Amino acid sequence: MTTEKMNLIEKLYQTHDLSDDGFLCLLGGMTEAETQLLYEKARLAATKIYQKQIYLRGLIEFTNICKNNCFYCGIRRGNTNVHRYRLGEEEIVACAKKGYALGFRTIVLQGGEDPYYTDEQICSIVRKIKQECPDAAVTLSIGEKEHDSYQAYFDAGADRYLLRHETADEKHYGMLHPAELSGAHRKRCLRDLKEIGYQVGCGIMVGAPYQTREHILEDIRFMQELQPHMIGIGPFIPHKDTPFAKEPAGTLSDTLALLGILRLAFPNVLLPATTALGTIHPQGRELGVLAGANVIMPNLSPTSVRKDYMLYDGKICTGEEAAECHHCIERRMERIGYQVVVERGDYRE
Ligand code: 5AD
Ligand code: FES
Repeated sequence: MTTEKMNLIEKLYQTHDLSDDGFLCLLGGMTEAETQLLYEKARLAATKIYQKQIYLRGLIEFTNICKNNCFYCGIRRGNTNVHRYRLGEEEIVACAKKGYALGFRTIVLQGGEDPYYTDEQICSIVRKIKQECPDAAVTLSIGEKEHDSYQAYFDAGADRYLLRHETADEKHYGMLHPAELSGAHRKRCLRDLKEIGYQVGCGIMVGAPYQTREHILEDIRFMQELQPHMIGIGPFIPHKDTPFAKEPAGTLSDTLALLGILRLAFPNVLLPATTALGTIHPQGRELGVLAGANVIMPNLSPTSVRKDYMLYDGKICTGEEAAECHHCIERRMERIGYQVVVERGDYRE
């Protein structure tokens, strides 16, 4: 029997868009048969463009010091239980080289908004990594900066920038962040980054406190306007030392459904099966790929600091070495019939 939602999935697969009511209907929950159809179409859409290839990004969490106080985040400045660290330039570059030797062709530098690193330092780190790993892409994920700083990093060789918008709804943004942060500024940053020429990634947490279906619809509309190259989504997971400690986590099924919907709405987008997804279910990342994801971001950070980069409770891979995570992902992907490739994994038009 063909249901209304099955028709919507087919339409989204064909046209990459739906009416507001159409998206809200799909976001309202699906039967098992509808869900399976969604995943099947999402896999088809992904493999048409990216085959059964999974791109790896080596993630270096180089500082857990942050001047912000986001209500959901474990390394918010108000959390005094965190052992704070920063890696120096040489350590960061050494870490990138190690990743390069393992086969990573994208290095992601992620950190809190740590004013210790000047623009010149970030540029110098980017330049050195590009020198040592010439055919690798460098992605920055270091938060909200001025246009000229973004321009300087780009001129130094940075290729991509990840900055989740967290929610496109200004009021919802205010419920997740202290008053000194604004959704408008965040969106402005994303537009600056795009205009400068970065491959840009935005994204949200699924099941973030106070999130509604209408918010996710707004997120989709915002993304249709921004046209990001990457969309990072994972479940919200509470962290015990944050104001959201008692909030429920986002669910596996909601996250997988949104991955599928996003794959159909943005067939070419780079879509990670995130560590947070791997944290709420032992096969979360595999299930993410089977729902349309095509990127995985294993941890490259030195083992000594991993347990200090806890954005949420229970984060996986805090004891493993970079090589262990790399092999682990290779095996996990092979088991579901996908293949990890040694490539930069740029956006395909
Ligand atoms: N649960 C899930 N994801 C989180 N992030 C931050 N805190 C949490 C949490 N508690 C995500 C945010 C941020 C990205 C780096 O990690 O979306 O943009
Ligand atoms: Fe780190 Fe599996 S990805 S151990």
